[in-house]
Amino acid sequence: MALLPIVQYPDPRLAQKAVPVEQFDEKLAKLAADMAETMYAAPGVGLAANQVGELIRMVVIDISEEKNDLKVLVNPFIEASSGELVECEEGCLSLPGIYEKVKRPSHVKIKYQNLQGEHCELECDELMSVCAQHELDHLDGVVFIDHLSMLKKQRAATKLAKLRKEKARAAKRADAE
Ligand code: NI
Repeated sequence: MALLPIVQYPDPRLAQKAVPVEQFDEKLAKLAADMAETMYAAPGVGLAANQVGELIRMVVIDISEEKNDLKVLVNPFIEASSGELVECEEGCLSLPGIYEKVKRPSHVKIKYQNLQGEHCELECDELMSVCAQHELDHLDGVVFIDHLSMLKKQRAATKLAKLRKEKARAAKRADAE
């Protein structure tokens, strides 16, 4: 297994639509394992393939505290969603340090394939629902700040750039010392 570099916003790969998976082979399983390792190490609760530069429809999610409930969703799509919207604060490994409230349906039913290509279903609520919708968005080239007003989105992007500059400066200082 290997840690993969996480693509950072506004990299154009995060705005691209990922293509369906057709080959359920060892290469796919290896990518899923690497993505899971990368997600756990970050640490995060979800990661989409385009966030590691692979434009295919696969996401990994684990919202458990023990980090022992890995879900790998291949070719996932939302089959049904509840009309009720709930607001939840979200973050993303491609926009580190940015947290914003996003409104989404509280419940979703997701259909997907597992690594063997078998068709499965998942009923999601609470954090799992938020996380699944956030990750599925990535596969369509959507990041969570795309759900904000233009003004809030611009503010978030500016803040991200500022955080990045500060981090780079701190790293340079550490190097000089
Ligand atoms: Ni994300």
